[in-house]
Amino acid sequence: MRKERRAGLILAAAVIAIAGACGGGGEKAAADSAAAALAAPAALFDRLGGRGAIVSVVDTFVANVAGDARINKRFARVAGDAAALSQFKGKLVDQICQATGGPCTYTGLDMKTAHQGMNLTDGDFDALVEDLVKSLDAHKVPQAEKDELLGMLGPMRADIVTKK
Ligand code: HEM
Repeated sequence: MRKERRAGLILAAAVIAIAGACGGGGEKAAADSAAAALAAPAALFDRLGGRGAIVSVVDTFVANVAGDARINKRFARVAGDAAALSQFKGKLVDQICQATGGPCTYTGLDMKTAHQGMNLTDGDFDALVEDLVKSLDAHKVPQAEKDELLGMLGPMRADIVTKK
């Protein structure tokens, strides 16, 4: 074999080897992230169906609250003002979206400040959670996701219920 030809073949082999190594590295990274994705459960936000699904759940939830004689008088301000209602729903959506790991930022008041002076009872809190569960059921949210979401809201009771 002529010298130049042998040098050319060696160069080609080196290029293939480097390309192979790079490709292999990319494949390994892809395989690693696929394995990580399989090992880690998706964020609750994704399992709920994303922002659109949360918007639907909040719509039904707020409609349930509006029809719930136990607590609907509390929401007179937002019920009578379309802009305030849509802002209130938006806050609920952002709050759930952010809490479940979604790409949203809740900019509303903290739960203690938002509900201070309302003298809310455990009965009020339970009624509202019942209205939320009805909505989650209507939207066929599976038990595991339902439990996870309710588990996130449960600890808020201490800040919201002020009348014993
Ligand atoms: C886990 C339970 C609850 C959550 C996650 C929650 C969430 C919120 C949020 C995000 C706001 C808006 C705060 C802001 O304006 O920046 C709010 C306001 C309010 N919440 Fe709650 N809340 C809960 C329980 C309750 C209960 C039990 C009641 C009464 C039965 C209630 C009545 C209200 C009212 C009347 C407002 C003000 C609405 C307005 O703007 O006029 N909340 N809540």
